[in-house]
Amino acid sequence: MSKLVHAQWSSKMTFVLAAAGSAVGLGNIWRFSYMVGDSGGAAFVLVYLACVAVVGLPILVAEWLIGRRGQKNPINAMAELAKANGQPKAWALIGVSGVLAAFLILSFYSVIGGWSLSYTLNSVTGTFTGQDADGVGAIFTGLLGSPGLLLLWHTAFMALVVWIVARGVTKGLEGAVRTMMPALVVLLVVLVGYGMTTGHFGEALAFMFRPDWSALTGGVVLAAMGQAFFTLSLGMGIMMAYGSYLGEDVNLLGTARTVIILDTTIALLAGLAIFPIVFANGLSAGEGPGLIFVTLPLAFGNMTGGMLLGLMFFLLLTFAALTSAISLLEPVVEFVEERTPLTRVMAALVSAVAVWLLGIAALMSFNVWPEPVMFGLNVFDLLDTFTSKILLPLTGLGAIVFVAWCLDRRSVAAELNLSGSTEQLWQLVARYLAPLGVILVFVNSLLG
Ligand code: PHE
Ligand code: NA
Repeated sequence: MSKLVHAQWSSKMTFVLAAAGSAVGLGNIWRFSYMVGDSGGAAFVLVYLACVAVVGLPILVAEWLIGRRGQKNPINAMAELAKANGQPKAWALIGVSGVLAAFLILSFYSVIGGWSLSYTLNSVTGTFTGQDADGVGAIFTGLLGSPGLLLLWHTAFMALVVWIVARGVTKGLEGAVRTMMPALVVLLVVLVGYGMTTGHFGEALAFMFRPDWSALTGGVVLAAMGQAFFTLSLGMGIMMAYGSYLGEDVNLLGTARTVIILDTTIALLAGLAIFPIVFANGLSAGEGPGLIFVTLPLAFGNMTGGMLLGLMFFLLLTFAALTSAISLLEPVVEFVEERTPLTRVMAALVSAVAVWLLGIAALMSFNVWPEPVMFGLNVFDLLDTFTSKILLPLTGLGAIVFVAWCLDRRSVAAELNLSGSTEQLWQLVARYLAPLGVILVFVNSLLG
């Protein structure tokens, strides 16, 4: 994406759509719900909400601010800003670890994107119609048990991503994001409505919002924080790169609030759609990564118009996954393009093939290679855990510490339109609460 002229977003709306396109994805629907289920419900949800507000918001703002000031890709932006502020060049490592995180995340993200593609086809062919929990479970187990099928869908998903990135038509997607995002919200609301008819909606509400604090271990808190980073696309330099296209007139705090509210609303709606189905059918909330794929088809298979709604839902989910995946591939491609003589198209291909290969190892975790490879985790879980629980928080920590402690305080406050008590609040959160929060969560989970 090395441009001769560093262009700016044509409008604020374009920027919001691009940021929302990156943020809203499988993380909101697939990952959020399965993490909630795995981690015992409300305690996780509440810690997650606190992390989004206290850690996510300031780090999102910090990443945009660094990008806008640096006017470069994350690695060069950090290097130059550090130099200009008398800081060591090592800050550029934040950019490097972001590229690594994007690479690792995309490999397993594409596998799940493939599941979503496959379920889109299943909806077209009416596979879910009239199925009970056992039938739907068997369909999912069938998919997981077939490395060939998983490979096919993973390949199809990556091919779509690379095609879009190589053609550089990313901008053309913004119009689509504008219509698809509201459509996704509407469909989720319909599904929540279906959940209300199951007679188990209250149970789901209590599961998600009435905390049993005894379930709150260090591991659960770390998982909640990791989910906050993952869902907001933080700690990868992606938001920094987007910020480099931002005009001076964009209100960073206000825009961050908009994106965060949208992202959080979609996640909560997804939970409210999924858990009534879990309880109504006696399924296990702790089902793991397959949770949405063994619950939502039950709704689509048994409601009027379910076939069409199911098709629309999985299409929209695939689309949301694609826009996120594009934002994940972009920094990797840019990295390769800058450091090799390869053209953009070749850089996109090479990056995608590398991601695709790692994705194959990830998808084998569900069938032929379930054995742990490190820390008792299989490849899929290792990739997910290492990125969301370690790389993203550390990179994000670097970004907030840099903005709050290494940049001139006054100019940052001015850039965020802060003064008086709002400025004090920002200083309190950005200098102390957010960084200490991340550090405490780490220490706490290390201590078990
Ligand atoms: N935020 C995206 C989601 O919730 C995933 C993602 C993570 C996208 C990191 C880009 C970078 O699905
Ligand atoms: Na998200």
